[in-house]
Amino acid sequence: MPIDSADIGSLEQLYPVLNRERYTAGWHKARPSLWKEPKTPFEPRQWRYAEARRYIDLAAQWIGTEQAERRNLLMFNPVADNDYASLPNLVAAYQMLRPGEHARAHRHSPNALRLVLDAKEEVYTVVDGVQLPMVPGDVLLTPGWCWHSHFDHGEHDAYWIDFLDVPLVHRLESMFFEPHPEQFQQVEHKPAASPMRFSAADQDRLLAQVPQQGGVRSVRLDTPSMRTIALTVHELAAGARTPLRRDAASRLVAITQGRGQVEVGQHLFDCERGDLVAIPIWHEYRIVAATGLRLLEVSDEPVQQMLGFYRNELRA
Ligand SMILES: [Fe+2]
Repeated sequence: MPIDSADIGSLEQLYPVLNRERYTAGWHKARPSLWKEPKTPFEPRQWRYAEARRYIDLAAQWIGTEQAERRNLLMFNPVADNDYASLPNLVAAYQMLRPGEHARAHRHSPNALRLVLDAKEEVYTVVDGVQLPMVPGDVLLTPGWCWHSHFDHGEHDAYWIDFLDVPLVHRLESMFFEPHPEQFQQVEHKPAASPMRFSAADQDRLLAQVPQQGGVRSVRLDTPSMRTIALTVHELAAGARTPLRRDAASRLVAITQGRGQVEVGQHLFDCERGDLVAIPIWHEYRIVAATGLRLLEVSDEPVQQMLGFYRNELRA
């Protein structure tokens, strides 16, 4: 309905009219739109493999891969109405396969990778027809829009952690998903090596090529097929600690060997193999090794870098 300007005698009378017509006066916002430095409602948080494994083993009595697209436990950060994302741009999940099971083939725009925690024999991921073994410590990539499926032809349950940039894709609203028309994808190659797989031995070899600084070695895995996620493997000698730092990225840290502490702000998380810690953006953090410690860090840093928003600070 047209408004007669003569009926509006003050800003107080104008505001409800603006609101009704879906305008917000920039000088009269309910919430600020700019602030000094990064802030987030997402919380530092730890998830424990031993606990998750009990729950997923329980669930496996009642849910199989026939019913579930994936039998996984998503690690969500309890903020607002979120029940999915671990951090604003990343989600992690513990996934389990039983002997004889097949997690059917599908593809989606989000990028994904997995860190294998426990698998005995005959456990595989297939990426675009290429069969890759899943061995503890392996990091396997399934970049966006690659067909991928998992199967366990052995005699033991297999466990791993999935990492995906699905929350980022949710925010960008660019989700595409397609189930494989035949559910199974044919295995066309069984290569000895693939750019989609960083075996534990590959990671050892890469770490051995970088100098140790203060008992810490770190190596970034070369993953040009995934533009949104950076993967870094860290190895700490017993008693070593990483520098205290903060940066304009958020990260998930998974322990692959040993025990230690992840310090995030005021939080101290005692971690062992398979545990995961969420480090939200601009939180001071460092890692302290109680024993020899190996971990995989998964971050959205490439997104912040690509967009020109990235900054970092050493704090001590
Ligand atoms: Fe998937």
